[in-house]
Amino acid sequence: MKELLIFYFSGTGNARQVAEWMKEDVMEKGVKCSLYDITQLNINEITIDNDAHIGLISPVHGFNYPPIMLNFISRFKYGHNKVILMNTRAGMKIGSVVTPGITGIAFLLSAMILSIKGYKVIGMVPFDMPSNWLSLHPALRGKAVDYIFEKNHQRVNKHSLRLIKNEHDFTALREIVQDLLISPIALLYYAIGRFFIAKTFYASHTCLHCDMCIKRCPKHAIIKKSGHPYWTFKCESCMKCMNICPGRAIETSHGLVMMTVLCTLLLSSSALYAMLPSIFDNAQVSFITINVFLFILMGLLYRIQHVLIMYKFTGKLIHIFSLTHFKWWGRYRRNGRL
Ligand SMILES: Cc1cc2nc3c(=O)[nH]c(=O)nc-3n(C[C@H](O)[C@H](O)[C@H](O)COP(=O)(O)O)c2cc1C
Repeated sequence: MKELLIFYFSGTGNARQVAEWMKEDVMEKGVKCSLYDITQLNINEITIDNDAHIGLISPVHGFNYPPIMLNFISRFKYGHNKVILMNTRAGMKIGSVVTPGITGIAFLLSAMILSIKGYKVIGMVPFDMPSNWLSLHPALRGKAVDYIFEKNHQRVNKHSLRLIKNEHDFTALREIVQDLLISPIALLYYAIGRFFIAKTFYASHTCLHCDMCIKRCPKHAIIKKSGHPYWTFKCESCMKCMNICPGRAIETSHGLVMMTVLCTLLLSSSALYAMLPSIFDNAQVSFITINVFLFILMGLLYRIQHVLIMYKFTGKLIHIFSLTHFKWWGRYRRNGRL
């Protein structure tokens, strides 16, 4: 390997950290290496030598690469370079074991797109970095994060050496059965789930109005509505906003999620069934109808919540129903460098 170009997307710094470790490793062995943040880049402005290796790394979101990465890959010009696909997943620490996350279709789908464009995929390597999905679980504590980082640093060293020696590295294929089994959920997350989750974020009444979330959102998904940050469906839930917010004001609205799901279940089983019973005769039609309903309701309730946040009493009530607002829940931070 003479040259390695690594293109990365990173919400909370894990994927970027792996890219940086890899750069150190390969440069130590005399390989030229450059890192590119895909949110700051127009791929068509980059010239890639035919013999340069390409590394792609991004977190896994919903058992797939996030759309921002998939779009980037699909904009790649045709070429014949060798490509190494990598991801960072949700690692957790149980005792001295770092439990693995799940890649799903992230590598398979990207490899398919790249192969059609003429590239040769020579590696698929996952890294189980600390999970940053704070909407689902409390933040990992500092010691666990440090431990997981150390373990992954060693793994990056090992895989970098294999790549420098021009060995193929398909570590990810060991999990192919699990990845294929989970593919329907990955597709559902891509088609529906991610839009739903986009509406779970809000800035509480403690917002300092520094606009950092708006300025640094990689998708420009946060806008200002009535002077307050407002998450649009463009959000990919990368968690950057929540992690960089200096006032710790960005929360996940668990109350809103519960209310939307409950209302959808109640209304679809009573009102919708009373009005249009024939819909429920067909499984696919009822699935689509319920999901359309869920979306409309979530969008509507999110707007109402946005207004209610501004009032002291309702703002505090929404805050109380957001698990992330509790101090013990914490925030995912590593070295404060996000
Ligand atoms: C919305 C969302 C979805 C996620 N889905 C998955 C998943 O399907 N599988 C997995 O292993 N990790 C999943 N994760 C965890 C992240 O991929 C993981 O923490 C990653 O290391 C974050 O990298 P980053 O800091 O570069 O953004 C998810 C995280 C978020 C925020």
